[in-house]
Amino acid sequence: MIKRRDFIRNTAATAAALFTGYSPFALAQSSSTADSRVEVLLGEPLGIISPNIYGHFVENLSGVVYDGVWVGTNSKIPNVNGIRKELIDEMKKIKPPVVRYPGGCFADSYDWRDGVGPVDKRPRRTNFWEDGEPAAAPDSHRYDLNQFGTNEFMQFCKLIGSQAYLSANVRSLPAEAFYRWVEYCNSPAGATTLADQRAANGSPDPFGVRYWGVGNEAWGCGGNFTPQEYAMEFRRYTAWLPEYNKQKLSFVASGPNSDDWSWTRGFFEAIARKGKDQLDSVFGWALHFYAWNISRGKTQDWDQGRGDALKFDNVDWYEILREGDRMESLINGHWQAMSEFDPEHEVKLVVDEWGPWYRPGSEINAADQVEQTPTLRDAVFSGMTLDTFNRHPEKVTIAASAQLMNCLNSLYLAHEDKFCVTPVGHVYRMYAAHQGGQGLRTIFSAPPVNYDRDGKPATFWGLKGSASLHDKELVLTVVNPHVKESRQTEIGVRGASVRSATATTLTHSDIHAHNSYAERNVVVPRNQNVEIRGKLVACTIPPASVTQFSLTLE
Ligand code: AHR
Repeated sequence: MIKRRDFIRNTAATAAALFTGYSPFALAQSSSTADSRVEVLLGEPLGIISPNIYGHFVENLSGVVYDGVWVGTNSKIPNVNGIRKELIDEMKKIKPPVVRYPGGCFADSYDWRDGVGPVDKRPRRTNFWEDGEPAAAPDSHRYDLNQFGTNEFMQFCKLIGSQAYLSANVRSLPAEAFYRWVEYCNSPAGATTLADQRAANGSPDPFGVRYWGVGNEAWGCGGNFTPQEYAMEFRRYTAWLPEYNKQKLSFVASGPNSDDWSWTRGFFEAIARKGKDQLDSVFGWALHFYAWNISRGKTQDWDQGRGDALKFDNVDWYEILREGDRMESLINGHWQAMSEFDPEHEVKLVVDEWGPWYRPGSEINAADQVEQTPTLRDAVFSGMTLDTFNRHPEKVTIAASAQLMNCLNSLYLAHEDKFCVTPVGHVYRMYAAHQGGQGLRTIFSAPPVNYDRDGKPATFWGLKGSASLHDKELVLTVVNPHVKESRQTEIGVRGASVRSATATTLTHSDIHAHNSYAERNVVVPRNQNVEIRGKLVACTIPPASVTQFSLTLE
């Protein structure tokens, strides 16, 4: 049997070469007890990490808005003008930069005019998601009372200190309705009839909404378009829009589902065919990617391929991470396809729906459609995904986990007066320090995870993460996906010495651990011991964990 020390000597360098093409022993003062190395390269900046990749997604879907964000102005649940107070307080801690609303698929059936004006006069409408609502769902999930509309959403954004990102209806409303929504939100006080209406509804000052989604999933629920047809719609919707108060609008086009390269090529080719300058109106290209299929190639069936959010074995753990880890190749692949038509890369990627999607059954609130209970596994998944975005700051400009609460990869769960922060929510808090930092190339060298995948050997990377710098403060986040093994890790910063270091880790001895209304603090970040050894920082990174290091450099 190979001894630990021999393993380090014989295989760490090989593992490093295999997984990073780099020898971990290039840094001085390596300790023989370490099995893993992280090297941050100060001299290799990647670009500024857009704060907006830490964005959020709120769709009028089941319990996300009603019973989630919105409790109503007459509620006994603590609220600020109808918005759940505990949510506001928690969100302020994670520096939310941008929130996308009202969908999702809901956006393409929504008329914004239903959601403004006196609340008791607002119409009741059938919600897009009505047919999938569980028996326990309240009527408000099926039939929309339109209590939460544009003004309420803008109020929510203001309370949490966030920008708005509104998704327009392309499937079932004309472009004129889109223009009018922009006018309602952004035209100067007193300048238009809609500005007067906005004022009558409590908001004299323009909202100044910059980000506008032109439809959602136009290849599916957003109209079943071909990329060529959608390109034509996109041009129509964006051909005229005024810049009120010099507020330039940033239009996000409905991009591909996962690895649908033909949607990306088809749209860009169709847009550019009219003239290269047409690309000027595309700010972002929305990629949606849900990790769901853990069948190891046995099926593509949506029902059979998905696993359970709470009941899973070690292999299921690795399989959903493996699926989620495809994000990096999707970013690179679509970026490459876009470059064929947009070589200067004017258009950036907007990953405004991502996360794991499990089968129904784990929802904490029986009334909530597509809700699932996030566990430690989803925290690791989320850390891994946010690190991926951090490593591509020149490509990804906005991103949002689907969705903020009472939904898929939720940061929060709430029902009536009950509330909890999920492990995913804690990851967002740990990663907030990356926002606006200078991304730095970082090399991770660790023994890979080896596991048995239906009788065949499978491997997964051993450690991965991302680093960013604000002045002398370096933030490093690291994910250890191994369900059992910790990593004795040494961290070096090439080009600087470390004056002080702290670390916070999110983990648990049970990989299924999660928070609930009754036990809110089962999975919470805890301080982690770190030691400065000469120029290196040494730390034990526990199994199944996400760790955030804060290093002050000299
Ligand atoms: O997030 C749930 C749904 O998934 C969204 O409404 C839709 O855009 C996607 O298919």
